[in-house]
Amino acid sequence: MRGTMLTMSKQHKKVLVVGNWKMNPATLGLARKLFIDIRKNLGRKRLKTGVAIAPPFPFIAELEKLSPSQRIKLASQDVFHEKVGAFTGEVSLSMLHSVGVSSVIIGHSERRAMGDTDAEIAQDIQSVLASKMTAIVCVGEKTRDAHGHYFSEVEAQLSSALKAVAKSKLAQLVIAYEPVWAIGTGKHATAEDVCEMKLFILKILADTFGRNAQHKVRILYGGSVNAKNATELMEVGQVDGFLIGGASLKPREFVSVINQVEVYAK
Ligand code: PGA
Repeated sequence: MRGTMLTMSKQHKKVLVVGNWKMNPATLGLARKLFIDIRKNLGRKRLKTGVAIAPPFPFIAELEKLSPSQRIKLASQDVFHEKVGAFTGEVSLSMLHSVGVSSVIIGHSERRAMGDTDAEIAQDIQSVLASKMTAIVCVGEKTRDAHGHYFSEVEAQLSSALKAVAKSKLAQLVIAYEPVWAIGTGKHATAEDVCEMKLFILKILADTFGRNAQHKVRILYGGSVNAKNATELMEVGQVDGFLIGGASLKPREFVSVINQVEVYAK
């Protein structure tokens, strides 16, 4: 069984590890140090795994200078879909692009909890895809119940998000399955449950866009990923990488996860 799984997982699309620093660390100095530590731990080995970090907005421009070769790419934790104008507190895509951001996390559960609606998320997805950047769209249930209602919760979020996606843009789409109960709790979803949800998401993609969609869209898992559970989540969960919060703030642990994912890189 494990042999079969390994063969299947070797067929993964380009794998991806994204570190979501959330509102950490406290200062630019600490952010520079963290970034440099991650870079040092990565060493010089050529990686097939895509690596991105999503720092808080004020640090992005400075961190870009620390990654001239784009070995570590920069992502943002959110975006506002308007181009310019009177939108106090918001940040646009062209601003992000101009400081080196190539992918944008959209609909993270912490943003949804602060009021981001499915409709706003769909607008953001549309503008990110129109700008040729990568949209990392988060979906995930709040709780798990014995009756499988969590599938409908994920389906509703995903269907709303996919309305904003043109078939021609599928290669720019990444779906991050992040069960809310697993985020920052130390309780990750089992690898079997992750695999089941991945297949469910692939089915929705195939139903919406046709069978080829599943070869284009990458599906990540997020929620208490760490150096101890990464290999099993890749191997059995069959995902194309991870979106990582807490462990992305620990350089050695983050790089250990990247190295484990690299085993599955094409
Ligand atoms: P966590 O966060 O790895 O700390 O659980 C994941 C996320 O919020 O993307």
